[in-house]
Amino acid sequence: MLKRIITYGTFDVLHFGHINLLKRARGLGDYLIVALSTDEFNKIKNKKSYYTYEQRKLLLESCRYVDLVIPENNWEQKIDDIQKYQADIFVMGDDWKGKFDFLKSYCEVIYLPRTPNISTTQIKEDFNL
Ligand code: CTP
Repeated sequence: MLKRIITYGTFDVLHFGHINLLKRARGLGDYLIVALSTDEFNKIKNKKSYYTYEQRKLLLESCRYVDLVIPENNWEQKIDDIQKYQADIFVMGDDWKGKFDFLKSYCEVIYLPRTPNISTTQIKEDFNL
């Protein structure tokens, strides 16, 4: 049986911290689904990405660790996604530790350690993006 992993995020200005996360998430199973924040959802979160949804999606789809990219439109869709895509494991970086423990009724929940000293926010500041 294929083991399916699902993870969520904005993945703007894709960097090696993201790739580390995606590589380790994919390493937990056989099929990695990334639910990627849409530009509309980013607005709700008071975030503005440098790259558009379609551009971020193209980058993620070019990554060998990613099997499928789906849109993340709201905070509430996770249970539906887990059921629809039959995810066995929900993965997030440990900046979200504990926040999604309620999903443990539906699948395994794993928080992976973030890669230190890299973030989209930092890159955008450094490059004045
Ligand atoms: N992530 C990670 N290590 C980093 C940065 C991000 O493991 N150094 C993980 C996050 O924990 C999350 C995923 O990558 O599971 C997507 O994170 P995202 O918020 O899009 O990236 P950040 O670089 O944290 O962006 P921002 O600075 O805008 O919060």
